[in-house]
Amino acid sequence: MDARALTAMRTLSEPSSASFAQRRRQLMRMAGHDTILVLPAAPERVRSRDTHHPYRQDSDLLYLTGFPEPEAVLVLVPGRQHGEAILFCRERDPDREGWDGPRCGPEGAIDRYGMDDAYPITDIDEILPGLLEGRSRVYYHFGRDAEFDLKLIGWVNRVRAMMRMGAQPPHEFLELGHLLDEQRLFKSRDELKLMQRAADISVRAHEVGMRAVRSGMREYELQAEIERVFRMHDAVPAYGSIVGAGNNACVLHYVANNAVANDGDLVLVDAGAEYRGYASDITRTFPVNGRFSKEQRALHDLVSAAQSAALAQACPGVAYEAGHIAAVHTLTEGLLKLGLLKGSLENNVSAGHYKRFYRHKTGHWLGLDVHDVGEYRIDGQSRLLEPGMVFTIEPGLYIGPEEKSVHAKWRGIGIRIEDDVVITADGHRVLTGKLARNADEIEALMGAA
Ligand code: GLY
Ligand code: MN
Ligand code: MN
Repeated sequence: MDARALTAMRTLSEPSSASFAQRRRQLMRMAGHDTILVLPAAPERVRSRDTHHPYRQDSDLLYLTGFPEPEAVLVLVPGRQHGEAILFCRERDPDREGWDGPRCGPEGAIDRYGMDDAYPITDIDEILPGLLEGRSRVYYHFGRDAEFDLKLIGWVNRVRAMMRMGAQPPHEFLELGHLLDEQRLFKSRDELKLMQRAADISVRAHEVGMRAVRSGMREYELQAEIERVFRMHDAVPAYGSIVGAGNNACVLHYVANNAVANDGDLVLVDAGAEYRGYASDITRTFPVNGRFSKEQRALHDLVSAAQSAALAQACPGVAYEAGHIAAVHTLTEGLLKLGLLKGSLENNVSAGHYKRFYRHKTGHWLGLDVHDVGEYRIDGQSRLLEPGMVFTIEPGLYIGPEEKSVHAKWRGIGIRIEDDVVITADGHRVLTGKLARNADEIEALMGAA
């Protein structure tokens, strides 16, 4: 990925307020006319005393509005005469804005975010019971935010208390995810542009990382090189970057990132940028000294072959799980050939012996959340792939340093190769396909440093 090309694209705009309105309409169409949908903003989280974690909006609210502030609630009321999309949010407050930055205010929610109606969040207790009244079904994410669950129950009870005066409280409470997760699973053209941008930034960051690594470097120094590229392009890490050298590459959720990367080690980097809320998720494993050893290369070639086998299944109409099955088959076959497993292919696969070296699945949906929403199985069967679905393909092999069942030369090697894929009408596109992937490509990139 050319650094200048990436910089030239710096101002990729967010989806227009018309496309957010279109998403809300689609959701309301699925919900039906006598429903109400309630979506609170993510709460702010304290990091330490009066200091907060960087604020990240709830992905559902982001998807439906683009609204970035905390202390807000979106209420969708299909067919409501005075407007279907209502946002409760903080009022303008020059004093607070002097501390924390500008607030949109209810007027801005209408003008800038295309809401039909907006009110101060402080008025929600007064207004929401009236919106619930007469609606028979409520769609909401129960159990995600216990404090908000209680508020919603309180508003419903306010309507129940007025039943003798003829008020009709809602009587069905439904999981919002049933509708919205399915909608979010299929990415629009607008969304794919942002996901491609997140992928491009991550590709660039991994290239910078591969060129920067040196024997004696701390894992966090390499992490800093990579995350610098994210921030230089208005992105943030989509999840805690994993930078594991040597044995640490075998720890699936390694978080310390503070060991020394030594000559002869491989280093596993699982790091992805989040751009305008959309995640990318890339893993590459490369030699600290720029050259794979014989054993490192043999295992890297095998993981690479498993990834290709999974990728060949990434087509519309193919079962989602076919990719994992293909990767497991290829890995097991290769492990038998290299002598790390013994016995027949069928027995090793059916008995799950490969799990000693490959414990995770081959991917997950990707979108506003790095492990994005959407069902993997429908009626007990793996669902079929359809255009617009985006997911990772990330086979790996992890031979722990204490793995006594294999020859010592294999121990302490951990490898994962992870790319991001979108299903198209006639196959797939690898969003992260520009990044060096196999051992020769990686050595060539590192050699050109
Ligand atoms: N980076 C998280 C994952 O690969 O699933
Ligand atoms: Mn992943
Ligand atoms: Mn990952």
